[in-house]
Amino acid sequence: MKIAILPGDGIGPEIVAQAVRVLEKLQAEGLQVEMETAPLGGAAYDQYGEPYPEATRQLARSADAILLGAVGGPAYDALPREKRPERGLLAIRKDLGLFGNLRPAILYPELAGASTLKPEVVAGLDIMIVRELTGDIYFGQPRGIHVNAAGEREGFNTMRYSESEIRRIAKLAFEIAQKRNRKLCSVDKANVLECTEFWKEILIDVAKDYPDVELSHMYVDNAAMQLVRNPKQFDVIVTGNIFGDILSDEASMLTGSIGMLPSASLDAANKGLYEPCHGSAPDIAGKNVANPLATILSLAMMMRYTFAREDLATRIEQAVQTVLRQGYRTADIFEPGTERISCSAMGDAVVAAL
Ligand code: NAD
Ligand code: IPM
Ligand code: MN
Repeated sequence: MKIAILPGDGIGPEIVAQAVRVLEKLQAEGLQVEMETAPLGGAAYDQYGEPYPEATRQLARSADAILLGAVGGPAYDALPREKRPERGLLAIRKDLGLFGNLRPAILYPELAGASTLKPEVVAGLDIMIVRELTGDIYFGQPRGIHVNAAGEREGFNTMRYSESEIRRIAKLAFEIAQKRNRKLCSVDKANVLECTEFWKEILIDVAKDYPDVELSHMYVDNAAMQLVRNPKQFDVIVTGNIFGDILSDEASMLTGSIGMLPSASLDAANKGLYEPCHGSAPDIAGKNVANPLATILSLAMMMRYTFAREDLATRIEQAVQTVLRQGYRTADIFEPGTERISCSAMGDAVVAAL
């Protein structure tokens, strides 16, 4: 297993260090793991003047899988857009063709009380958000800020999806739904936006190849509401890049914390980049208080999707469940009656449970 480690910025290095300890534990047991580290985002800008430098690109392309912390931070927000950390993240996703972003929102029963929703609303929650990751308004041209015909400054972006982009993410989502409860909800804004009206049309067409999956459609505004009203009505959600970004952060709070939501970003051959859904959390960076579990759970997803090691994926997920059952909590999921521990102590606990 050749794994590129990209710690990134803010809390990135702190949380990635804990996932690396899990990998080292497996390595000590005999798993053949090769790890190499490179900068991405602000850390890469500091070292190379580019958020996705050639050295990082080479490593990422040669690795089987990539583990990423998070990128971004206030120190970089005033840079020209193409130098900003977030551009580095978008560039690596696009460069490696990582179009399929899986964001599972699973409630560990131990965290039912940590959610801001009533325990009975979230108990047993297990939904998979499939977010398209290399198209949509994130990448559509034209884009920019210019002076319009009326002589006024305006900002503009373009929402675009080609048929092939929609077909491949639809296929991925149907295949995932087939392995789960065979219910797929496509989220769009087809009542207003032509781009997503087209999305819906293609989803309906692809559905003909998956007669065993029940396809439904929902407007994104309603979906945002339904996710907090009755999230368990969903099995798999498939949606475009920007709606998926927003809905997955919303879904994270169903699981107790944004610090619990892992992700996999896959290409057509299951090469993947694995990262928590959250950002670099500048407000808590450097304090050793961040929750590393989303990153550790992303490593579990790596074992499952890139390396087809369901045994190791399950073992890592069970170790996470064990530490939660033992009552260990980082600050974001702390409740009275549990024990508040640091980021690195959470790493200790997971390694011990493993
Ligand atoms: P954020 O996810 O970094 O933080 C939002 C809130 O959640 C903060 O209060 C933070 O402390 C908390 N939080 C996030 N992760 C946590 C964890 N593991 N443990 C405990 N608390 C956690 O979002 P933001 O504040 O909007 O963005 C901060 C920076 O991160 C920006 O530069 C943004 O562009 C970037 N960002 C990067 C990614 C990524 O690398 N994939 C994702 C989102 C945001
Ligand atoms: C995420 C982040 C990124 C996104 C940003 C930092 C580019 O919010 O991974 O969810 O919008 O995709
Ligand atoms: Mn996001």
